[in-house]
Amino acid sequence: MTSFTVNGQPVHYRLDPRTPLLWALRDASNLTGTKYGCGMGQCGACTVHIDGLARRACQVPIGTIEGAFVTTIEGLSRDRGHPVQQAWVAEAVPQCGFCQPGMIMAAAALLERNANPSDADIDAAITNLCRCGTYPRIRRAIAHAGR
Ligand code: FES
Repeated sequence: MTSFTVNGQPVHYRLDPRTPLLWALRDASNLTGTKYGCGMGQCGACTVHIDGLARRACQVPIGTIEGAFVTTIEGLSRDRGHPVQQAWVAEAVPQCGFCQPGMIMAAAALLERNANPSDADIDAAITNLCRCGTYPRIRRAIAHAGR
């Protein structure tokens, strides 16, 4: 059994410890806000926070995070009132929306470390991919949230 905390709740998974966190969250915990894009650690659609850092859940075997604190998009705020979520709405960031939970989680982790990131800081930290090309709006929203 593997135990850690997800969105403030203890979880105990009777799964192979090699199971990617992404599948434990989506299939065992029904937290489907965390998306499957590439499964190879490249797109960032599966970004969650593990002990406060942005991580790609498809690349994290659950057996490696025993006792950790995981936050998913569902746990970022109680009422979608996190400053990044509010900025995303204000700047009308999403187009198709699929990559946006991962984008928001990556942005929130960046702003925890750097409340006023430059465009270069944003480009360095947010390596998530968006097929709709919403990158200019993402930059504006991160700057908005950081104000
Ligand atoms: Fe994890 Fe693409 S699904 S990085």
